[in-house]
This record gives sequence, structure tokens and C-alpha cells, in this order.
Amino acid sequence: MNTVFLNGEYLPADKALISPMDRGFLFGEGIYEVIPSYSGQFIGLAPHLNRLNDGLKALKIKTSFTLKDWLDICNQLIEKNDGENLALYIQVTRGCSLQRHHAYNNDLTPTIYAFTFGIPNAPLADKSQVKTYKVSTDQDLRWQRCNIKSTSLLGNVMHFQKSVEESTQETILFNSKNELTEASASNVFIVKNKVIITPHLDHQILPGVTRFILLDILKKYCEYAVEERVVSYDEVINADEVWLTSSTKEVAPVVAIANKEVGSGRVGELWLAAQTLFSQYKGHYE
Ligand code: PDD
Repeated sequence: MNTVFLNGEYLPADKALISPMDRGFLFGEGIYEVIPSYSGQFIGLAPHLNRLNDGLKALKIKTSFTLKDWLDICNQLIEKNDGENLALYIQVTRGCSLQRHHAYNNDLTPTIYAFTFGIPNAPLADKSQVKTYKVSTDQDLRWQRCNIKSTSLLGNVMHFQKSVEESTQETILFNSKNELTEASASNVFIVKNKVIITPHLDHQILPGVTRFILLDILKKYCEYAVEERVVSYDEVINADEVWLTSSTKEVAPVVAIANKEVGSGRVGELWLAAQTLFSQYKGHYE
């Protein structure tokens, strides 16, 4: 049985009980993080915990947890659970109200929950072995605070479900001006004429940790130009390469968008270069 962390205690998952009056349950009012670890080494732990704190500040949820407390929970859960490669899920909600009311009191005690789940081995920079993605597209109908990693994921779930219904593996999203935002559970990069491009950060997309690490690595070690800017729908469907990035996928090549092949329909050379560098340097971002 998995060991989880709930409100200061480590306990078997089936003993973790949360009140039905929890605002995370009733309103989706919480923040979460998914942090990968391979053989006990976290990738991007500091940027993930920084983003967690940014989200708590945005929601005005106060905890007494210091960075050391968070690090201790992360390390304890990895030690207490089996598995070579484990992702850590951390969730903090505003806690329980006595009555269901949109307004909340500032003195609620947050509910802090964390657990681990197994993930595949880290992706290899190998064109013959990498998992490729066929994706759907959709107009981005989510709210205008997507920079907050909120547990209110209904918009993301409904967009992702479109890919399930269309037998693809993710849905790439475009705003009302038909500009690329991100995918329902990943950031998106495109390559055109050997230039690597991704949307700049704003309220429309999550500031992905993998995006942050990849951009830093590319700018430091890669020969190709890198741009963060508005990307049009036409640029995406006519790209030479398209990648998805997330903590669980790292850099994932997309070979088809809405049944149209991306470039040659095969994994590209710049993906190989990017994933090679990511695999080589990701351990520097603890
Ligand atoms: N998803 N954009 C969205 C909407 C996401 O949900 C995620 C991550 C990302 C990539 O962020 P990062 O590189 O920090 O993982 C971008 C996580 C993995 C999830 O919800 O499971």
C-alpha cells in the first residue's frame, strides 16, 4: 500500500481521509505540483517548489511550511514508497469551511496532501525508441489565469478528453486570435527553418518547469536560435517539428496534428539535439 502525506502525517493511502467540506473538493480551490524523480534524484525540485509557493501566494493560502519542510516531505515520500522512478504529487487546498459559501475566511487551515506514483524511465534521446504523439487541436476555452497551477482542471480535462475521443494523445490549444497557447497538460514548442520557438509566458499558459529548464539548456548549449513569441495556428500546422514538454514527458515529439503530418511525419533532428542536451543537463536543475 502506498504511503501518503496528509496534514503532517505519513499514513497508508487507504487511511487518508479528507472532509467533504474541503474547498479543494467543493470548489477546486487548490494548487498542485507534479515533480519527477529518477533513482531518487528529483528533476527541477527547486523551480517546482517555487511555483507551488507562487501559486499559494496568488490564492492567498498560507501554510507554515518552509522550503526545508517541503524538501523533507519530498524525500520522505520517495524513501517510503517503492519504485525506481516516482513522480511526487503535492496538493494544497484552502481547507474546510463549515458551510459551502463562495467567500472564504482567511483563517482556514490548508489541507496538505502528497503522494507518489510510478513513471516510466526517463525518455532516451533515441529517435527509434521515443514515444511519438498524434494530437488534436481545440480553441482554448479555459480561464484567464492559466499561469496558476490550480487543481481547478475542468477546462484542461475537457480539452484533453477531446484527444481521447479522437484517439490522439493530447490536445494543442489556440486562443480566440488563433494563436498557440499550450496543450491541455503540456507546453508546446515548434521548429521552423532550424529556429526553436515557444509562446512567451503570460496568463494564458502555465510557466512549465520543463519549458524553463529546456529553454535555459538550449540557450546555454545549443547552436540553434531560440525565440519566445506569439506563434500562429498556421505556424504550428506548417512547422518542421512540434514538441510537447512536461515533467512526465520531458521533450516529446509530435508527428501529426489533427491528422496532418508534422513535417516529414517522423521525429526531427532538432528534437534529437534538444532531448540529448536535456538528458545531459537536466540533473543540474535540482
Ligand atoms: N502537467 N501546461 C499544463 C496545462 C500542464 O498541466 C503542465 C504539466 C505543463 C508542463 O508543466 P511542467 O513542465 O512544470 O510539468 C504545461 C502536469 C505534468 C500534470 O498536470 O500532470
